[in-house]
Order: sequence, then structure tokens, then C-alpha cells
Amino acid sequence: MSLNYLVNPGYGLKGEIRVPGDKSISHRSIIIGALAEGITEVVNLLEGEDVLSTVKAMRALGVRIEAPKEGFLQIYGVGFKGLQSPKAPLNLGNSGTSMRLLSGVLAGQNFDSRLLGDDSLMARPMERIIHPLNLMGASLRGENGDYPPIVITGNQTLTGIQYDMPVASAQVKSALLLAGLFIDGEVTVREPGPTRDHTERMLEGFGYSLSRESNKISLSGGGTLVGRPIEVPADLSSAAFFLVGAAITPNSDILLKHVGINPTRTGILKILELMGADFQILNQREVSGEPVADIRIRYSKLRGIEIPSDLVPLAIDEFPVIFIAAACAEGNTKLSGAAELKVKESDRITSMAIGLDILGVKNKVTDDGLVISGGVIKGGKVNSFDDHRIAMAFAIAGLAATNPIEISNCENIATSFPNFFEVAQNIGMDIVMKVHSPAV
Ligand code: S3P
Repeated sequence: MSLNYLVNPGYGLKGEIRVPGDKSISHRSIIIGALAEGITEVVNLLEGEDVLSTVKAMRALGVRIEAPKEGFLQIYGVGFKGLQSPKAPLNLGNSGTSMRLLSGVLAGQNFDSRLLGDDSLMARPMERIIHPLNLMGASLRGENGDYPPIVITGNQTLTGIQYDMPVASAQVKSALLLAGLFIDGEVTVREPGPTRDHTERMLEGFGYSLSRESNKISLSGGGTLVGRPIEVPADLSSAAFFLVGAAITPNSDILLKHVGINPTRTGILKILELMGADFQILNQREVSGEPVADIRIRYSKLRGIEIPSDLVPLAIDEFPVIFIAAACAEGNTKLSGAAELKVKESDRITSMAIGLDILGVKNKVTDDGLVISGGVIKGGKVNSFDDHRIAMAFAIAGLAATNPIEISNCENIATSFPNFFEVAQNIGMDIVMKVHSPAV
């Protein structure tokens, strides 16, 4: 069975919406809550499949986690010594964040583990965590070289490390910091550019001391985490679809409520601003150590830009929908320095280029990016390549197209935005679900 969405051209998005909880913060609340002493209660957790993979894995490691129900979850922390050996390999589905962050935690345990996932996750590079964790004295091995399953042999003595990350990756940084909780010594990670700092903020919120000087983050093992309540803000990466949807659809005026605007995530806002989008950040506040705001956005004419390289890691998950904004803008938009997009849930440069070609949008793939010439988006049928963000980006393209766009293989939207369809309908998108049964 496959799930397709059909989107008809839009005539103005209106209303107020709150998109689901932030995926990165949701994962971290479960992992850090499990390693803490005492109970951690989480509200507005993202109940997407990726986060549920982390919940399932933590339960398999002996952690009692109640619910999640309507975004509420209770984690009974087991402390640094309380995880138990899993009875079976941990299957992390589509979730790269679960695999990489849990590798850091499991590297420091006194039992063995094996981590695997779906076809997309099994094709994602893991050497980026295997190598530095092994430098710390851990024993990790990719059964297929650079690729999962990852086999972790426990009972190793991990030591401190100073590591210069070759790629700007919050997952690698987080894996090393989490491994550092279990060592006698200090871990220092230096990042080539800022990456999302939710792990650092949450560790600090749980009472763990960290040193953060410009691009250098250090922590020493041997401390304690104390369970606490966490409220997860709405995910800016999910809000991004409707930010672009409103920006490209005449007569639109929407308000996105309670969105996380951590400065390590706001590349999308800066890029939209440079493109001439008309939005305001309202009611800024701080919730559970993370900055949050409401965002009002209206339709405006967009212009093509050269995307500044320092914004690339700060908008890394938003490029599929930024490409749709570029397709609607006047002139060319050029992205470079974004080779990381090739190793996401799909090769996002190729997946988007193929779909844009089908929709008549001129584009040119480069070594590390894409150049898009804005113009008319035609209707047509595109594939999501089983990638949630490609599926949602093309659904948004349907708003500005001359004819309907059908997107095939939309099941994976459930990994990060399970109620995308309902939210899209609520703010006025003409979107229809088509379920195809396989021919017998
Ligand atoms: C994430 C970090 C980013 C991002 C991913 C979530 C995280 O990946 O693309 O969706 O939660 O730490 P990289 O660390 O590979 O850049």
C-alpha cells in the first residue's frame, strides 16, 4: 500500500497553528531524562515515529517510560549506572538522531549492543561517530564498513579526547558529549561552525556543568543529571513548510504559535528575510532553556539569493522547502557548501532536483549544492523517495503550481510531522489523500 497526497493550487492560507514538538529536543529529553536521577515529565513531545524509536530503544535498555499520550510523557531516570543490556538489536527505524546519539551513550556501557534501522538509515554514514568514539577507547564497528548495523562492544575504558569535527554535525557533537558523561576525564569538541546546541542546553538544564567558549564545548564525566520538567517548543523545521507556504501563496496571513527560535536553528528565517519574506517574530520568551516565539507571516514577492555559507548548518533540514521558495522567487537562488544534504534521509539534492525537473523548474545540481531559477511551477507527479521532508516540500509546491501536484510515498511524513495533513487542511490547503493498494 502506498500513500499519495494530491495538492491543488492555493488561494491564501489563513489562521493560527501550532505544529508538533521539536524533534531534536524530543529525542534529547528522552535520552537525558533516562540518564538522570528521578522523574522527568515532558509536555508537547513530538509523537513522530523517529522519537518513538528512541522511546522504544530506551525501554529496551530497561528504562520505564509512561505514555506518550497527547505529547505527555514520564521518564523514570535510571542514572548513569542503570541501563540494562537489551535482549535484541535496537531497531531505530528511520532515525539518524537516535542511532548517533544512542551510540554515544552505549559506547560507555558495560554490555554489548547492536543498532540497526530501515533501508534509509542503513545507507547513512556512521564513520563520523564510530571514528571519534573509538579514539576515546570505545569499541564500535560498522558491520558494512561505514554503514550500520553498528556493533558496540561494552566494558571498555573510555578516556578524554579533544576532537575537531571535520563536518558541522550536532549529532556527532552530541554523541561525544553523551559518551563523555561516562568517562573519567574531559571531552572537548570543536565545531567548524555552530550547530544546534539543544544537548548542551538540556544537560545544563539538568544541572550538568559544561564549558562553552565560542566553538569549543567541554564536559567531564562523573557528574549527575537531575530529572526535571521539560516543555518542548513547536519544531521550527516543521513550521518551515507553512512559513514558505504562506510566503508563496497570495492572500496568505498565518500565525505559527510557540515555535522554537534557538539561534542555532534560525537559518530558515534569515534566508527568508534575505529573499524578501514578510514576517514578524512576536512574543519572544524562554521555555525550558530554549527561546520560543510566535511567527506571523504574510505573502510577499520573493527574490532569488546566494545563500550565505554560514547559514547552511543553521538551516540544514529546511533546504527542501527553501528550494520551493526559490522556485517561486524572481531570479536565481544558489546554494553551495551543502554536501551534507546528500547523506540525509535521502540524497536531498538529487531528490529535489528530480522533482523540480518534473515540475518544469530549471535547476542545476553542483558538487555541493543546487542552483534554482525561479519561474512557473507546473503540475505533475513527483516522488518523495521515502523522505518526509521531500514529501512535505512538494506538498507546499502544490500551493503555487499552475496545476495539481501529486506526491507519492508520503507515509514517512509520520516520522517528523504525523498531523501534517490535518494542519495543512486547517489553514486552507486543498490537499487530498490517495491510498494505492498494490496490484495482485
Ligand atoms: C539533528 C542534527 C542534524 C539534523 C537532524 C537532527 C540533531 O543532523 O539534520 O535532522 O537532532 O542533532 P547532523 O548532525 O547530521 O547535521
